[in-house]
Formats: sequence, structure tokens, C-alpha cells
Amino acid sequence: MLIPIQGVLSKDEVLQFRQKLDAAEWQDGLKTAGTLARSVKRNLQLADGSPLAVELGNFILRKLGNNPLFVSAALPNRIYPPKFNYYADGGTYGAHVDSAVMAVPGGNVSVRSDLSATLFLAEPDEYEGGELQVEGPFGIQAVKLAAGDMVLYPSSSLHQVTPVTAGARVASFFWIQSMVQNDSSRVLLFDLDQSIQGITPALAADDPRLLKLTGVYHNLLRQWAVT
Ligand code: NI
Repeated sequence: MLIPIQGVLSKDEVLQFRQKLDAAEWQDGLKTAGTLARSVKRNLQLADGSPLAVELGNFILRKLGNNPLFVSAALPNRIYPPKFNYYADGGTYGAHVDSAVMAVPGGNVSVRSDLSATLFLAEPDEYEGGELQVEGPFGIQAVKLAAGDMVLYPSSSLHQVTPVTAGARVASFFWIQSMVQNDSSRVLLFDLDQSIQGITPALAADDPRLLKLTGVYHNLLRQWAVT
């Protein structure tokens, strides 16, 4: 399931990001491509661990920690430090599945990729092409969101970024190890949580039906969560 999360960054924050990123030194994305990706990846990336990547990445992580929709959808356990990429001049990333386990640079921690995230940092009208296409059970879904919006999708899915034929596509991307590894279990919890949030304003806080549903949510999460 693709889950869009609007307004992870405000337009003001995007502007500040872009001022810094547009002046940054980008390097060939092939440096970090695995053997499978080498033949299909053509883009630029900010060096992992560079002061700018760390600064902006930490800012994104702080925003996500306070984003109830993200927390509900991802149930994050570990998050890979956000990376940044830049596609222009026909830049593309052909169909691939993300690596399952990612070692965090400079540490002895690794992150199992349950969910992949793309945070768009360019407006859709700044570039042509550059769609994120994700293959799911109901076919291919194309995603091209407003700057500041983010999409979550299963890391197990085949996906690609189509060639950017004009302008530049700037984005942040990273992976999330969820407390609930199984996609369909996590989606059930997300649907239940969102439904509870939706009906809560219409009910008294001590409504026994609401208390029971909330209990069901937490007791399922207790059964399924691995921390
Ligand atoms: Ni990917």
C-alpha cells in the first residue's frame, strides 16, 4: 500500500532546504549502488555523512517523530539516516527492489528495510518525468507529489524513477525498519488506528465501545510489535 503524507515539511522549510541543496556538491549515485542497481541507476547524491546531509536529515527525523500520520503508518523502530538525490539531464533509476538490510554508515547498526520513503523537495512543475512508479498488487502506481510531501511504500516492491527530461528532481529518501515487519499486519493496524482517530471526536471519551476498540489496537500491537 502506498501511503502519502502531506506537509512533512512546510513550504518555508522546503525553500530553506533547497537553498542549501542547490548550492551543494553532488556526487555520482553509482558510488552507492549495489551490483543489481549499477546497471539501472543514473543520478546524483549528497555524500553520506556530509555535514549538510546530517543537518537536513536530522531535521527531517525530528519532523517525522512529531508527525502522527507517519508514526501510525510506519510504526518505526529504526530509520536509516535520510539521503538526498538529484535527477536531471535524463537521470533515472530503473526498476529495482531495495536491498533488505542496510548498514548505517559509521556505526554498527543496520536497518531492515520494511518501508521506503521518498520526500519530494521539488514541485511537480519544476521538472518533467521523474515519476516514482511502484508495482503493487493492483498494477503500477505513479507518484509525483508536491514539495514537502512524502510517500511510504513497501521496500519489497519493484519500483523505479522515470527519466527526468527537463528541470531537476530533488528528493530525500530513506528506509524504515518497522516494529511490525509484516506489511498486511501493519496496514491493518494503520486502518484501525485511523478509524479510531476518525470516530473519536463524535464519541464521549469514556464511551465503552471506543475504549474497547482502543484496547484491541494496543493489544494487537503488543502481539505483533518487535522492538
Ligand atoms: Ni529504490
